[in-house]
Amino acid sequence: MTAPKAAAASTSAAGAPAAGKALSVTGLTVRYGGVTALNQVSVTVEPGELVGLIGPNGAGKTTFIDAVCGFTRSTGQIRLGGRTLAGLSAGARARAGLGRSWQAADLYDDLTVRENLTVGAYTPDWRRTLKEVVWGRARHDTGVAEQLGITHLLDRPCDGLAAGQRKLVDVARALAGRPDILLLDEPAAGLNTDESRQLAARLRGVVDAGTGVLLVDHDMGLVLAVCDRIVVLDFGRVLAEGTPQQIQRDQAVIAAYLGSSTPPDSARPDSDNARPGERPQSGSSEDDS
Ligand SMILES: Nc1ncnc2c1ncn2[C@@H]1O[C@H](COP(=O)(O)OP(=O)(O)OP(=O)(O)O)[C@@H](O)[C@H]1O
Ligand SMILES: [Mg+2]
Repeated sequence: MTAPKAAAASTSAAGAPAAGKALSVTGLTVRYGGVTALNQVSVTVEPGELVGLIGPNGAGKTTFIDAVCGFTRSTGQIRLGGRTLAGLSAGARARAGLGRSWQAADLYDDLTVRENLTVGAYTPDWRRTLKEVVWGRARHDTGVAEQLGITHLLDRPCDGLAAGQRKLVDVARALAGRPDILLLDEPAAGLNTDESRQLAARLRGVVDAGTGVLLVDHDMGLVLAVCDRIVVLDFGRVLAEGTPQQIQRDQAVIAAYLGSSTPPDSARPDSDNARPGERPQSGSSEDDS
């Protein structure tokens, strides 16, 4: 299934044209030895658009983020606002406007929330380093804390924050460098339904302010409720693409990933997060490509 181009893709919630840069990935392929983790995957994320990237364990979601952000080798085209990123270092891609969070990463527990955001805001740049030397300290933009609703936590050490608060700080840290496109790897992992709802509302605010977001998560309540468009990966290939409503009804997606336990029409379950059945199998061999 291929979705029609979202009409709202390049406009903010207020209807004004979004000023950021679009991410356009075409024919992305990643091989780890004999395993083809991604096979000719094409995905776009417009400014002010929230795109879900879902699929079974080992489908290639983290590999996609790694490859786009320059943490693993890939072939194919990666463009941000018309500029080609393929071949650039991870640092150069961050400076160009990409931000990411990590599936397994955690906060710096000994540091305060403010200090964690300061670390997130840091991108290697001689002008910035010079300013920090002259002014004596790194600065960060408190607007990100406001966007994520965590200003009251800024001076708290991260050690001792609740799980939901930690995830908001994690997203804020990834956003602190003010990326045009933010790629989030399972930000709702471990959250309960209320915390996940709060995260959804905050993500929507980030997107409506003009940032493009690619959201990887197994929490189908979150993904179906908040995304404008969803891309489904299976064995390193795009299995389907469409609106949340289209994806929920796609028989191939139901068979490969969703099963029958998906909440209907983006309704959220009362119990903890809906997480589709996991698949022990991971990746595809080059034989079937
Ligand atoms: N560094 C690596 N070296 C070798 N193989 C890897 C490496 N990273 C990932 N893979 C393989 O690539 C495939 C895709 O893995 P990836 O981590 O991208 O999946 P995923 O969709 O993020 O899964 P999950 O939902 O479990 O996080 C898997 O077969 C995995 O074993
Ligand atoms: Mg992953």
